[in-house]
Amino acid sequence: MVTARELVLSRRPQERIGPDCFTLVERELPALQQGQLLVRADCFSVDPSMIPRLFVDTYAPAFELGVPVEARAVSQVVQSTADDWSEGDWAVCWGGWRDYAVLDATAATRIEPRHGLPPHTWLHVLGVPGLTAYIGLADIARMRPGDRVWVSAAAGAVGSVAAQMAKARGASLVVGSARGDGKARYLTDILGLDAAVDYGAGHLTDQLRAVAPEGIDLYFDNVGGDHLEAAIDLLRIGGRAAICGMISGYGKPPGPGPGNLTHLIVKRLRVEGFLVLDHLHRRAAFEEETLPLVEDGTLRCEVTEFDGLESAPRALLSLLDGGKLGKALVRP
Ligand SMILES: NC(=O)c1ccc[n+]([C@@H]2O[C@H](COP(=O)([O-])OP(=O)(O)OC[C@H]3O[C@@H](n4cnc5c(N)ncnc54)[C@H](OP(=O)(O)O)[C@@H]3O)[C@@H](O)[C@H]2O)c1
Repeated sequence: MVTARELVLSRRPQERIGPDCFTLVERELPALQQGQLLVRADCFSVDPSMIPRLFVDTYAPAFELGVPVEARAVSQVVQSTADDWSEGDWAVCWGGWRDYAVLDATAATRIEPRHGLPPHTWLHVLGVPGLTAYIGLADIARMRPGDRVWVSAAAGAVGSVAAQMAKARGASLVVGSARGDGKARYLTDILGLDAAVDYGAGHLTDQLRAVAPEGIDLYFDNVGGDHLEAAIDLLRIGGRAAICGMISGYGKPPGPGPGNLTHLIVKRLRVEGFLVLDHLHRRAAFEEETLPLVEDGTLRCEVTEFDGLESAPRALLSLLDGGKLGKALVRP
């Protein structure tokens, strides 16, 4: 009999997400039925899309009270009654905020960590963040070599991949924005972007104009709000924006929208939102382009690890307060 430790949502946050919204419980897991796996999480993901789901329904239902918060995990099989799974196999699954879980094998996707890539790579550049970056750039914004590109939240998971991918795909200029001088220097000195802007250090549009005086052709939006407004100012005629996320508004009442939307008409801009869930069939094309870049070190993937199941709420808050670099992961 295996006892799992689980972090459940015990009450919905009122205004603030705090550790008091979650309770650690222990639960004896049932014996495996035919076709099931007992898995142990190596690490699980915290994602911006979880933040609104603590409060309300979004494109996915609000998290249920009393059950572990849903999260993608990279897990290792401890015991299997499924034909093609064995102890020690690696999988990506909806493990949730817990250490052990019993799952139907059909709910697990096998991964084969190879060439020295750590398993958590499948929650980052080879997982949802990487695929999201690829879809936004290649399919939604239809990036062309020579484009001048701005990526917001560029020191985060999706943003860091999108910005590096834009360079690898032949952008003539890649600007990243992030919070603080340290992250801005990380973008230029470590990720090799052409320029970086610390969005807290002054007027965003003025700072962007200083590093992209001819404007931009493509904006990859992870932030929304003032960032989207600045992008609409900066985009050149015929420019394109892939609206990936709007984290500046998550968990808050709706704020005022961009005040410069007439530019969409004047500059004939194309602004398109997308959900990666609609593009999972593009996985093979994504891997064909991305895997070699990960394996040869062109695409760097920074991770901030939070130790212990109890650290999951802090990891989630780090998505809002700047307390992490790259992909935030929890090791339960
Ligand atoms: N469309 C889709 O299918 C899809 C799929 C996955 C993710 N997304 C979206 O993609 C975006 C990035 O997701 P991720 O998983 O890669 O998270 P992430 O970038 O690793 O973490 C979120 C980042 O947002 C930045 N941020 C938080 N509040 C901000 C604010 N008020 N203004 C500016 N920046 C702020 C923080 O960076 P700083 O420390 O630099 O402030 C933080 O690192 C999110 O909007 C998410 O919802 C969309």
